Amino acid sequence: MASKPHLIRPLATGEASACERIMRSLPEWFGIEEAIIAYARAAEKMETYIAEAAGNPIGFVTMNQRSPVAAEIHAMAVRREYHGRGVGRGLVEHVEKLLIGRSIEYLQVKTLGPSRLDDNYERTRGFYRRLGFQPLEENNLWGEVNPCLIMVKHLRCSGAHASTSA
Ligand SMILES: CC(C)(COP(=O)(O)OP(=O)(O)OC[C@H]1O[C@@H](n2cnc3c(N)ncnc32)[C@H](O)[C@@H]1OP(=O)(O)O)[C@@H](O)C(=O)NCCC(=O)NCCS
Repeated sequence: MASKPHLIRPLATGEASACERIMRSLPEWFGIEEAIIAYARAAEKMETYIAEAAGNPIGFVTMNQRSPVAAEIHAMAVRREYHGRGVGRGLVEHVEKLLIGRSIEYLQVKTLGPSRLDDNYERTRGFYRRLGFQPLEENNLWGEVNPCLIMVKHLRCSGAHASTSA
């Protein structure tokens, strides 16, 4: 099926509830109430972009800078009915372009690690691998029950590199 056109724009003030609704529509991935609330709050505080179709928010990505050269995708989600239509790629590529413009070299994301079997998160990891993220390490940042996989992408290797001149 051809991808539907979608617009990517910054989250408006007071619009974090849109991110919350998207997360609540995906209980297989967002099943912990406190995590949903924390991600919605973070969406307000951090830099967040919304993907919109026909005037409705259908996806979001929240990012934050972790060091002078590294940033993180703090949270992202796309409404189920839009999965597989390029919305997630569009959001990540939007963020990458902005970060490259700021001379940020590395983009990381933390997700559920493969040592806990979960078909849904296997798809999430497949998405990030497809976009060029590599597994860096699995650790117990979220406790032993929820192994945390850190994936990382070297943005200068992405093909959309920044100018080498200052
Ligand atoms: C993960 C998620 C954000 C991806 O968004 P999406 O809009 O469905 O992804 P896209 O359609 O943009 O896919 C981008 C690419 O990844 C590929 N891809 C997606 N899932 C894949 C998988 N399981 N294995 C391999 N490649 C995969 C697509 O084929 C596509 O490739 P292409 O652009 O080269 O054709 C979305 O599915 C989602 O919201 N999942 C639930 C929440 C979640 O996992 N959030 C992240 C938590 S860390």
